[in-house]
Amino acid sequence: MRLSRYFLPVLKENPAEAQIVSHRLMLRAGMIKQQAAGIYSWLPMGFKVLKNIERIVHEEQIRAGHIPLLMPTLQPADLWRESGRYDDYGQEMLRIKDRHERDMLYGPTNEEMITDIFRSHVSSYKDLPLTLYHIQWKFRDEVRPRFGVMRGREFLMKDGYNFDVDKPSALHAYNRHMVSYLRTYERMGLTAIPMRADSGPIGGDDTHEFLVLASTGESEVFYDDRVTALKLGDRAIDYDDRDQVAAVCKEFTTLYARTDETHDESVFAGVPEENRKVGRGIEVGQIFYFGTKYSEPMGATVQTAEGTQVPVEMGSHGIGVSRLLGAIIEASHDDKGIIWPEGVTPFHCGIVNLKQGDAEADAACDKIYAALTAVGLEPLYDDTNERAGGKFATMDLIGLPWRITVGPRGLKNGVVELTSRRTGESEELSPEAAVAKVVEIYAAHR
Ligand SMILES: Nc1ncnc2c1ncn2[C@@H]1O[C@H](COP(=O)(O)OP(=O)(O)OP(=O)(O)O)[C@@H](O)[C@H]1O
Ligand SMILES: [Mg+2]
Repeated sequence: MRLSRYFLPVLKENPAEAQIVSHRLMLRAGMIKQQAAGIYSWLPMGFKVLKNIERIVHEEQIRAGHIPLLMPTLQPADLWRESGRYDDYGQEMLRIKDRHERDMLYGPTNEEMITDIFRSHVSSYKDLPLTLYHIQWKFRDEVRPRFGVMRGREFLMKDGYNFDVDKPSALHAYNRHMVSYLRTYERMGLTAIPMRADSGPIGGDDTHEFLVLASTGESEVFYDDRVTALKLGDRAIDYDDRDQVAAVCKEFTTLYARTDETHDESVFAGVPEENRKVGRGIEVGQIFYFGTKYSEPMGATVQTAEGTQVPVEMGSHGIGVSRLLGAIIEASHDDKGIIWPEGVTPFHCGIVNLKQGDAEADAACDKIYAALTAVGLEPLYDDTNERAGGKFATMDLIGLPWRITVGPRGLKNGVVELTSRRTGESEELSPEAAVAKVVEIYAAHR
């Protein structure tokens, strides 16, 4: 993409309405525009990052054996009357009437609808285990939408639902989700800690929330500092291997890590004092095991191997896809702007031409652009007539992890400059070597 042809409406001033850094930077970098309280348009660069996050979520769900589908945003109220949640859900639910006076709602979550799909088509243990998920817009009429996309009213969520014949198999699904989530967040450059939590209106017995530590987080968290060092890395996971998956979950959930809802001072006191940490976190996901809470009232049963009929065992598992943009920026920025992790960056590399219109500099930029594009990378080339200082400020604000700077003086010596946004360190390299290095860096993120 050439900046002269792109739509990147950056703001020079700090928007007054933004209280936290991620919201401020998303507005300043021209990623989102508020249309109503908690409702946003995703401008091209914000939309690109959103799609990148979505792609990683899909890839990791599919790797874990989960199957994508798509349910609508609008749902009939009758389904929710069956589970009893139509009355329970309260004012967070946006209730709508259609022209025939039928009660509808904009889905805040999809347990009822997926249970309806299941009961229409599945009746035997032979079709289990089954996990279906989608990435779809949700609406929750939050009392206080704030912090930009972090607490929106309309927001994008990945929600998945497992169906299993018995509890051990449902708990395996729970564990599988935990591991696939850990991998998902790591690919986005985040450390998200699974913390024992409270089940809230979804209901159920077992639940963990995934929290990204950040001083602006809305949850108070209590943890053993050693959990922050745990990494999944690129170890091989066989998602069908119950023992292996359970062992990984144990590794990540044994040290103390809880939100204020389940925090227990007497247990926390057992953590060595130097490791005891109290802080704040952003909830980027939550997994639930709830057994037959929905299948029983909604009549979603399966025949077992012994020939009996049992309500199917279920759980649900959510990732806050749009909230993740805010969480990533909270975790990765400096006073100049965003610092995108390679896994989600909207463009792989910035190209800054220090002297637009200089024949040699223009040709060198075009060549670098073509070389990166040829291997499937997406550069953002600042080909405008802006001064060098302004170009650098924009690149720093929008946070592309790598920048190649091209100017007549360097070209006389056969070099361009490759700069890391994270460290600020620059290297002088031939244009070919700079391209090769960027290609090599991204090979590790594919
Ligand atoms: N209003 C919102 N705006 C953006 N993302 C949200 C919002 N509410 C929930 N999410 C995301 O969706 C995920 C799954 O939804 P879940 O039902 O667990 O939310 P929740 O526990 O009600 O969230 P919260 O406690 O933050 O209100 C959450 O972990 C969070 O990342
Ligand atoms: Mg939650």
